[in-house]
Amino acid sequence: MTQFDELKNKQQKEAIEFLTLYKNENALPQNWLNDRLDEIKKTGEFIPTTEELTFGAKAAWRNSNRCIGRLFWNSLQVFDERQLNTEEEIYKALLRHIEYATNDGKIRPTITVFKPNSVRIWNYQLIRYAGYETEQGIIGDPDSIKLTKICEQLGWKGERTPFDVLPLVIQIGERQPVFFEIPKENVLEVSIRHPRYEELSKLNLKWYGVPIVSNMKLSVGGIEFQAAPFNGWYMGTEIGARNFADVNRYNLLPAVAEIMGLDTKSNMTLWKDRALVELNLAVLQSFKEDGVSIVDHHTAAQQFKLFEQQEEGANRQATGNWAWLIPPVSPATTHIFHKPIENLIKKPNYFYQKTPF
Ligand code: ARG
Repeated sequence: MTQFDELKNKQQKEAIEFLTLYKNENALPQNWLNDRLDEIKKTGEFIPTTEELTFGAKAAWRNSNRCIGRLFWNSLQVFDERQLNTEEEIYKALLRHIEYATNDGKIRPTITVFKPNSVRIWNYQLIRYAGYETEQGIIGDPDSIKLTKICEQLGWKGERTPFDVLPLVIQIGERQPVFFEIPKENVLEVSIRHPRYEELSKLNLKWYGVPIVSNMKLSVGGIEFQAAPFNGWYMGTEIGARNFADVNRYNLLPAVAEIMGLDTKSNMTLWKDRALVELNLAVLQSFKEDGVSIVDHHTAAQQFKLFEQQEEGANRQATGNWAWLIPPVSPATTHIFHKPIENLIKKPNYFYQKTPF
């Protein structure tokens, strides 16, 4: 058997598994499955219908072991854009995704699926801040330095603020990637302030409202969709305890501690912990006040518990990656911390893939 045959076999096996799951969960008759499989054998190729793809994208979310927000897996809005062929069309579909998902702050979990084995989006998320290495140190998000350089090589010019939204970088096949600026009015952002430490506003912090992961592939029935950007809404700690606080990201704990008047000379003052809590509170309250969907980690953990119960009720065991599911702030206050969970990888699912640059 050639390598190609082996791949085809593996794909067929996954297609059969997926269609069986689809049949069972939608209570379709065995006849339906037989006919569908005959069709695939005839053409030698599994091309999911929009309905199958929609179910696949939802099940992939349900199987995403790192995600604490999976209670809402079945409410995912799926845009099937497999018919699009040009960079401009894809750009427009991405703007539509941003607008639909943003929904003036009432964020809607959304995915847009593009043609497989052809389209790549180079961005980690559709909306993300640039990072620049300068003589005075790094400006912006250190995590974006590499992509920012590439954007500049492609001819993009950033303003060099700490929060420049990167352009969308779209590649079709082996063509040169093309960049497109996202109009400012399409990017919902929240300026971060604290209900009591008013000085926090002087840090001029802000964050975008909608995290739309665009560098992972969706795997459904043996087909890999390399371009399938998806979003939920934020859990506050993602911003307050990681993006703002990590030493290799915006590294803001010392600045926050100073505003709070904390003694940063001694670890025993717990200045990092105290700054962390207030920074996270500021993120949650600012989003809330602006009417932008966000969830705190206590509520998210409770929702995850409901998800686990829901899965059990459907005769499935919820799977999960413990190290990812526990929140980075006060993990032991959530039930997740106190029990093991099996990190079994089921398909459909979302997977990392090789960076195109
Ligand atoms: N952790 C990432 C960030 O801070 C976002 C990952 C997806 N998060 C989500 N809530 N869907 O930007």
